[in-house]
Amino acid sequence: MSETAGALFKPFKSRNLSLDNRIVMAPMTRGFSPGNVPNDLNVEYYRKRAAGGVGLIITEGTCVGHKAANGYPNIPFIYGDDALAGWKKVVDAVHAEGGKIMPQLWHVGSIRRPGVEPDPEVPGHGPSGLVMPGKKRCHEMTENDIEDVIAAFAKAAADSKAIGFDGVEVHGAHGYLVDQFFWGGLNERTDKWGGDYVGRTRFAAEIIKAIRKEVGPDFPVILRWSQWKQQDYSVKLAGNPLELQQFLEPLTDAGVDIFHCSTRRFWEPEFEGSDLNLAGWTKKLTGKPTITVGSVGLDTAFTEEGQKDFMDAKPASLRNLLDRLERGEFDLVAVGRALIANPDWANRIKAADDADLAPYSKEMLKELA
Ligand code: FNR
Repeated sequence: MSETAGALFKPFKSRNLSLDNRIVMAPMTRGFSPGNVPNDLNVEYYRKRAAGGVGLIITEGTCVGHKAANGYPNIPFIYGDDALAGWKKVVDAVHAEGGKIMPQLWHVGSIRRPGVEPDPEVPGHGPSGLVMPGKKRCHEMTENDIEDVIAAFAKAAADSKAIGFDGVEVHGAHGYLVDQFFWGGLNERTDKWGGDYVGRTRFAAEIIKAIRKEVGPDFPVILRWSQWKQQDYSVKLAGNPLELQQFLEPLTDAGVDIFHCSTRRFWEPEFEGSDLNLAGWTKKLTGKPTITVGSVGLDTAFTEEGQKDFMDAKPASLRNLLDRLERGEFDLVAVGRALIANPDWANRIKAADDADLAPYSKEMLKELA
């Protein structure tokens, strides 16, 4: 093993999950599941990353069983016999390689436009029917809608456990439904599902509690969240550590085991006056393990325009990452695009055989390999 990468190759434990190393495959939507059912190509894609030494795979976002959960073509669902049978093949293949895998449970909320599977007529659903702040263009969720979606997340978690997944991740990031409740820009509700941090986190907290009720005490539950929204990259749910504490407290109390803190550049300090990044602050304030993410192993990084453009990412050196991991700033490291380019990224880093790793290019998204 490479001496320098040692911090990445220490075991990790949360509830009944034991990982050989700290490398997590970041959830990445690929849209290669026609009929919304994971197929042999999807099985092979994940099997290869497990064989390549990733400690934990988090799957692409997979839609829970609610009519408005999906927003894009060819997304794998996590309800219905066929989709669950497809996922079981993925799980079994990953386990056969000694890997661990969790699905990312997803509802796109108001991002949905009519015309998408499974029922083209169904409009987007949002906490206040807002597509963008001030723009009302979709269905405003009723109390019943909210209860239905919470139940759909809980059912998806129960089914995930039944088919052998090692835990679940709730997608609470990037401006999708759970995040639409977090964000005052799209959540103008005056009932218990809106208002202050306690109100705006209630939907996520109830999802976490409902999942826990289904899966019992031993099954790990991750919550992924982000400050930025695809609707507006400049948004911050929490502008300072005190606000961050108020945001995180109800979620921690609800039983989140691991916070997955989504940023596009892991080395950036979250607040002035400290080097800690978002995962660092989240760990410090909650005492829970955290996952960091954002341009690990890349020479280029997301700019403010997201995937549209890239910038020089030299500060993102592996040394910087390892030092932070070693210090305990965060516990796990998610890797996205570098793992699309190099399925064996983890093994190559472990063997210090990283001289000719393939650079990521957007062209690679055109096929699932
Ligand atoms: C993503 N990302 C993402 N995030 C998420 O929570 N659910 C998802 O389904 C997706 N889908 C997705 C698709 C593709 C093609 C990319 C490149 C990214 C974001 C991803 O998990 C990760 O946070 C970012 O890619 C940053 O990590 P890297 O790629 O810089 O290591």
